[in-house]
Amino acid sequence: MRKIIIAGNWKMHKTNEEAEKLARGLLEVVKPRDNVKMVLCPPFTALERVSKVIEGSFIELGAQNLFYEKEGAYTGEISPLMLKSVGCRYVIIGHSERRKYFKETDELINRKIRSAIQEGLIPIFCVGETLEERERGKAQVVVERQVREGLKDIDREGEVVIAYEPVWAIGTGRTATPETASQMHKFIRAIIGEIWGEVKAQEITILYGGSVKPENIDSLMSQDEIDGVLVGGASLDVNSFARIYNFQA
Ligand code: PGA
Repeated sequence: MRKIIIAGNWKMHKTNEEAEKLARGLLEVVKPRDNVKMVLCPPFTALERVSKVIEGSFIELGAQNLFYEKEGAYTGEISPLMLKSVGCRYVIIGHSERRKYFKETDELINRKIRSAIQEGLIPIFCVGETLEERERGKAQVVVERQVREGLKDIDREGEVVIAYEPVWAIGTGRTATPETASQMHKFIRAIIGEIWGEVKAQEITILYGGSVKPENIDSLMSQDEIDGVLVGGASLDVNSFARIYNFQA
C-alpha cells in the first residue's frame, strides 16, 4: 500500500504567531488516520515554532526549499542540516514558483534532491507543465524531462515523493480534472518504472497539486493513481485543510 500524504505548502504566508495558531488549530480538530500523513510546510522563519507545536504528534514538518551545500558562504541560503535541526522530515524541491521566479533549472533541482536524500530528508519533488506547454501538446514531454533530469544519478534506495502540479492549476482556481491528473500520474509512474524498476514505481507516492480544495478533494482522492495532495491556498485555514485531510474516497 502506498503512503498517502496530505501536505500544506504555506508559501510566503503566516507570521510566527499566525503559524503557531494554524498548527495548534489543526492539532485540535484533526484526528490521525491510518496511513494518511499530514505534512506542514511553513516558511523557514516559522519552522521551529511549528515544530515545537507538533512535536510528538502525527503531524510532520517540511520546508519549502533548501540549498544543496551543508554549510558555507552562501548568503541567504538554508542547508539540509539546518532543516533537520529544526525537525524537518520533508522538503519541497523544484516548485514551479521557484522555477519561474528564481530561475531554478532541472540541474539545480537535481542537486537539491540529491543533497536532501543524502542528508536523510524526503524531497517532495514538483513537476508540471505550463498552460502554453499543454496547449502545444507538450505536457508529457515537459514532465518527462523534469522527472528524468530531476532524478538523474539518484539510486532507487532514496525515498522521494513526486508532486504533479500543472502550473496552470496553481493558485488559479482551475483544477485539473481527476482524470487528467490521473493520466499524468500514470505516465510519471511509468517513467519511474523505466528509471528505477516496477517495484519502486508501484511504491512511490505521487501527489497532485493545483487548486485543491474541500470541494474537489474527494473526487481527486477517488483516483487510484493519486496518492495525496500538495495544497497551497486551502492549507492556510484550519477547517479547510482539516476537511482536505479528512477526504472521503
Ligand atoms: P494552490 O497551490 O493549492 O494554491 O493552487 C498549490 C501549490 O502551489 O503547491
